[in-house]
Amino acid sequence: MAQVILTDVTKLFGEDVYAVQKFNLEIKDKEFVVIVGPSGCGKSTTLRMVAGLEEISSGEIKIGETVVNDISPKDRDIAMVFQNYALYPHMTVFENMAFGLKLRKYPKDEIEKRVNDASTILEIEHLLKRRPKELSGGQRQRVAVGRAIVRKPAVFLFDEPLSNLDAKLRVQMRAEIQKLHSRLKTTMIYVTHDQVEAMTMGDRIVVMKDGYIQQVDNPIHLYNNPANKFVAGFIGSPSMNFLNGKIESKGSEFYFKSGNITLKLPESFNTKIASHTGKEIVLGIRPEDIYDKVFIAQPKEGTTFRAIVEVIEPMGNEIFLYLKINDNSIIARVSPQTNVKINQEMELVVNISSVHIFDLETEEIIV
Ligand SMILES: Nc1ncnc2c1ncn2[C@@H]1O[C@H](COP(=O)(O)OP(=O)(O)OP(=O)(O)O)[C@@H](O)[C@H]1O
Ligand SMILES: [Mg+2]
Repeated sequence: MAQVILTDVTKLFGEDVYAVQKFNLEIKDKEFVVIVGPSGCGKSTTLRMVAGLEEISSGEIKIGETVVNDISPKDRDIAMVFQNYALYPHMTVFENMAFGLKLRKYPKDEIEKRVNDASTILEIEHLLKRRPKELSGGQRQRVAVGRAIVRKPAVFLFDEPLSNLDAKLRVQMRAEIQKLHSRLKTTMIYVTHDQVEAMTMGDRIVVMKDGYIQQVDNPIHLYNNPANKFVAGFIGSPSMNFLNGKIESKGSEFYFKSGNITLKLPESFNTKIASHTGKEIVLGIRPEDIYDKVFIAQPKEGTTFRAIVEVIEPMGNEIFLYLKINDNSIIARVSPQTNVKINQEMELVVNISSVHIFDLETEEIIV
């Protein structure tokens, strides 16, 4: 059991590749933290520095009460599961899982007990005599996790462990890793580029971009209160829609104007947007905050707009509409009862209290 504290951790490769910059994070004991971000943003490097597989250029990493900067990976009390599983092909499942314990000279009885316990948890008891090539992708993945579990480490590190699995198995293993977390009650740091994995698994999510942390928060708060346009667009599927436009005021009321669209902004925005009057900003609307007007009895004044339907994607329980407004394309997630045709103009309603406004230059959130 251990907390992990990273203070100003920076990784410089060569002269000018800053893979990770001033990374600050306190991971609590037993917490499940997911690091998410696009390819190359520094997720694996961060995890590898915690594991000790990569030296840090500056800063400090603490596991439990110990500063581990100069402690070798094998003495850090961590276990890591890699994307490619890294199983030994010539060893059986049992031997793969037992290997780390053997190296550490655990007694035979203890090794057997731990491997058996882990294989029960992961439901791979019947596979112990097979070799990796005789296993499916999902089974290999379990063995890789099993090999980490038998060590009973203070901290588990996962680097995209599900990315080699097909979509259905990924969903299943996602749930199993969560179950494992509540069962083992061990600190876990999980790296993925998949925002759905991040949202569904993490107690807290760390969003990274270009080596920098963008935001750290629990999934719901992150979804509802993104710190900037990048986080807003990265978290959520389909992504948040962005429309460039201007804030205009009439008396004490504020409006968003973009081409022939005018939306009346809620009064609660006033104090934050007043200083942006007349300026270019970006409006963010999530696809689920746009409705077919037919189903809204009395839309509030200033919440409707017209758009041309370009593509219709029926998902069964909902429909994704790709809409054209002015020169922008946006996506709406509407009721499955929506009855529209391609190239038709339709009226839509925005749940205006849920929209966000971002600074055009800095891309930071205004409200
Ligand atoms: N050994 C290395 N030498 C030089 N540059 C490296 C090295 N390892 C990683 N990098 C660079 O550091 C940056 C971060 O890499 P990292 O592997 O941490 O990204 P990532 O977020 O894990 O991406 P992915 O989702 O593709 O796995 C990238 O720009 C990468 O090219
Ligand atoms: Mg990586």
